Amino acid sequence: MTKPIFVTQPYLPPLEEFTPYLQKIWDNKILTNGGPFHQQLEKELCEYLGVKHISLFTNATIGLVTALQALRITGEVITTPYSFVATAHSLLWNGIKPVFVDVDPKTLNLDPAKIEAAITPQTTAIMPVHCYGQPCDVDAIQKIADNYNLKVIYDAAHAFGVKCHCGSVLNHGDLSVLSFHATKVFNTFEGGAIISPDAKTKQRIDHLKNFGFVDEITVVAPGINGKMSELNAAFGLLQLKHIDAAMVRRKEIDHAYRAALKDVKGITCLNGDSTSETNHSYFPILVEDDYPLSRDELYQKLKDHGIFARRYFYPLISDFPMYRSLPSASPDNLPVATAAAQKIMCLPIYPNLEIADQIRIAQIIRGDTK
Ligand SMILES: Cc1ncc(COP(=O)(O)O)c(C=O)c1O
Repeated sequence: MTKPIFVTQPYLPPLEEFTPYLQKIWDNKILTNGGPFHQQLEKELCEYLGVKHISLFTNATIGLVTALQALRITGEVITTPYSFVATAHSLLWNGIKPVFVDVDPKTLNLDPAKIEAAITPQTTAIMPVHCYGQPCDVDAIQKIADNYNLKVIYDAAHAFGVKCHCGSVLNHGDLSVLSFHATKVFNTFEGGAIISPDAKTKQRIDHLKNFGFVDEITVVAPGINGKMSELNAAFGLLQLKHIDAAMVRRKEIDHAYRAALKDVKGITCLNGDSTSETNHSYFPILVEDDYPLSRDELYQKLKDHGIFARRYFYPLISDFPMYRSLPSASPDNLPVATAAAQKIMCLPIYPNLEIADQIRIAQIIRGDTK
């Protein structure tokens, strides 16, 4: 029996490279509360990502919840149904009503042409997602936000290191939130971050992630505990040393899949003609009607061979019980997202994916392997 292949495998640098970091933590006995590794990782990430201000978090979900608090978002927020549930859950945790808008058929990102029709007097913000690390149409979204005086918070959980036409995609909108979860391109086991455009906003976010404390005796807001620990921050610093090599390997795997699947009838590889510098965090394909198997049959066939692809994002967020009664959650309002969720499958992609395994996956999809 060959070993199972999952959609991703977390990147782990050699263990012996991590022990000096642990030794430092054991020596100085600072485990959390914005210690030296936390400060150093914030600094190094700003340089690596090309952003001005970053606040590290325990995970992206707490980051999203805090970002909405920091900008005092209320009422209704326009967002995409085609994402991981945490996007919309962060709204519910703030007592905000999500309003789902359909996605663009090419990128599966929020379709700017459909946003205006969903704006009401209660709308205060837009929360788009750079799905699979493919940049949203940031200029069109900003134009709408400016016209209607709305804030924009990007769920940039997939967008580590992604560059669009004008540099880091993380510099768009009012805030961007990254995830450093184990499954992500850059991981700190669990972790996340908020990118702020100015020092004042970062300061407010830093207060909010530390219970609202400003100093020993002053609490300025009902904050939460969202601080990244020294252990996670130290691991992030080590990961940064390996990230460029990991990105190169992801790009090679992406190109090899595209070459192997390009003439397979009924299989569409997404985002192949992107002009942006993406991070190859996912390899999404659409299983179209003219492919000999349904999406779920192909998913099962791969599974039978020990290959665990994932149907990200199926079901749509708008189909989960806590959302489906919203008027905007109706499939009639979301035809593109609804169709994509029926066809989508993400293939395994991670730096240590062996070439032989990748060839095997492509052969199964091509129908060369029964
Ligand atoms: C689009 C999106 N948003 C938010 C999250 C939540 O991130 P975290 O697990 O770091 O809380 C994830 C993923 O895991 C995600 O894919």
